Amino acid sequence: KLLLKKMQKNLNKIAKDTNFFLKNFLKKQGSSELILAIKYGLFPGGKKIRSKILIDIGSLLFIDYKTLITIGAAVECIHAYSLIHDDLPCMDDDKIRRGKPSTHIKFGESTAVLAGNSLQTMACEILASPNLKLNEKKKISLIKKLSECSGHLGIAGGQYLDLNYEKKKISKKKIIEMEKKKTGKLFSFCCAVPAIIKNKNNREIKFFEDIGSSIGLLFQIADDLIDYRGDTKIVGKKTGKDQKKGKATLISLLGHNNAVKYCDKIILDINRKLINYGSNTKNIKETLNYILHRDK
Ligand code: IPE
Ligand code: IPE
Ligand code: MG
Ligand code: MG
Ligand code: MG
Repeated sequence: KLLLKKMQKNLNKIAKDTNFFLKNFLKKQGSSELILAIKYGLFPGGKKIRSKILIDIGSLLFIDYKTLITIGAAVECIHAYSLIHDDLPCMDDDKIRRGKPSTHIKFGESTAVLAGNSLQTMACEILASPNLKLNEKKKISLIKKLSECSGHLGIAGGQYLDLNYEKKKISKKKIIEMEKKKTGKLFSFCCAVPAIIKNKNNREIKFFEDIGSSIGLLFQIADDLIDYRGDTKIVGKKTGKDQKKGKATLISLLGHNNAVKYCDKIILDINRKLINYGSNTKNIKETLNYILHRDK
């Protein structure tokens, strides 16, 4: 309980700093009906869990906070875009997101598609902007990695599989692969960022990417668990939808209890991998527990 409170305080601070950055960034871009839809999908925004992971891993490698918040802002743009599109009638067809009507309900479908597109490119704008104080070679590496994680090798590819697998019997291996793509890849990016900034070699970058992939998988299974047993009023989105839509999840395949057990295994596995970082891993460990035990 106390840990949960501490985590919420932490996340609130990250949300405040991230939203402050994004609001200033958008201020320079004028105003239009489309910007209203972009802001609607972006603010007040969700938990900022991806930024939290970025900061937890970033602190292991001593990256400064402002840099992490700026990159986190780009990640949150990609994330917001993925949610706006995920809710469209041609995808999950969800009318409530973050406790309010989904972007397409409020602004119409075409505007929601365009707001999503704009958010996706805005992420790259942020990484390329002078706001991010890194040399150009590192910026290009970050933009390349984030693009890979968002496109057909990442979110878009995973979302394709998610929709394609509806109402089919899908193997455990394939479900995990789909969840690692649609959700894991963006977490992989977050974990790779500090290693890229510190000029680590490919092997070390891959080490952190794999941890990110596991965290993302954990996060998605926990999201599936929340869909299974959560309360719409608390969660801010409709629950019980996955079963209705015939989504292929570890819960539909193995049952609720086995899915929870699988999550425990993932956490043990990540903690084992991080063993060399010693007591510095306190924050990331707390975040992993929060991811599994949160109620929204
Ligand atoms: C929901 O993500 C979509 C998934 C990838 C499971 P979040 O639960 O992080 O959404 P917000 O940002 O907090 O609303
Ligand atoms: C969405 O997964 C994953 C994305 C990459 C957007 P879900 O479809 O389960 O997310 P929610 O439950 O609608 O937030
Ligand atoms: Mg979906
Ligand atoms: Mg959905
Ligand atoms: Mg879900």
